[in-house]
Amino acid sequence: MRLDKLISQMQLGTRSQVKEFIRNGNITVNGMVVKKPEYKVDEREDNICFMGRELCYQEYVYYMLNKPSGVVTATKDKQDKTVLDLMQGAVGRDLFPVGRLDKDTEGLLLITNDGALSHNLLSPRKHVEKTYYVECEGTLTKEGILKLEQGTDIGDENPTLPARVHSVKRSDTSYSLELTVTEGRFHQIKRMIGAVGGNVTYLKRISFGGLVLDNALAKGAWRALRQEELEALTKQKKEKD
Ligand code: URA
Repeated sequence: MRLDKLISQMQLGTRSQVKEFIRNGNITVNGMVVKKPEYKVDEREDNICFMGRELCYQEYVYYMLNKPSGVVTATKDKQDKTVLDLMQGAVGRDLFPVGRLDKDTEGLLLITNDGALSHNLLSPRKHVEKTYYVECEGTLTKEGILKLEQGTDIGDENPTLPARVHSVKRSDTSYSLELTVTEGRFHQIKRMIGAVGGNVTYLKRISFGGLVLDNALAKGAWRALRQEELEALTKQKKEKD
């Protein structure tokens, strides 16, 4: 990789500021001052220092985004704003969202460049838990809850796997609940609620594979995962192996 690209990915400054640092002799590669921004380095092998301090290159990066409604879960889109458009300033190459939330769904989305972790978290065999806060029109009966808990016929070849229903609150014509599922079928929550006679009016993912949405993150905001959060995600993957 080019030296200036690598260093700007480490957020030491903009690409032009980084070029200045390099031209001014502030960067050494394996102990030698390098003044050419285009100099090719091996980010895994070379020892790169900025004003004498060693820079640590992190190949994989992990962020939680509080996805707002109206943004599509994609890396690029011709029409709509994407979740990656919200990640301005995030360090790391080839970022992508892990899994998919509908355009009108809000909440927790993991953004990374770690393909192996993503593959594991999304594998249908791993049954990684996802919890949604759901607001609905209609009434939720005891039979409806039982259906959700036992497996719901949503028109696919097989019913859904049993889900956990919690924190149910009812009013005359509407209700809210939290629903924990272990699959990732297309429009799964909306179809499950539809199958028990309701209509989803608001949907937000609040946890995914042991990772819980940080309530301090405003809609559209993101932050890097903390070490313990990353460990929880990785542990989850191992336990399901
Ligand atoms: N289920 C849905 O129906 N939509 C989502 O965005 C996620 C789960």
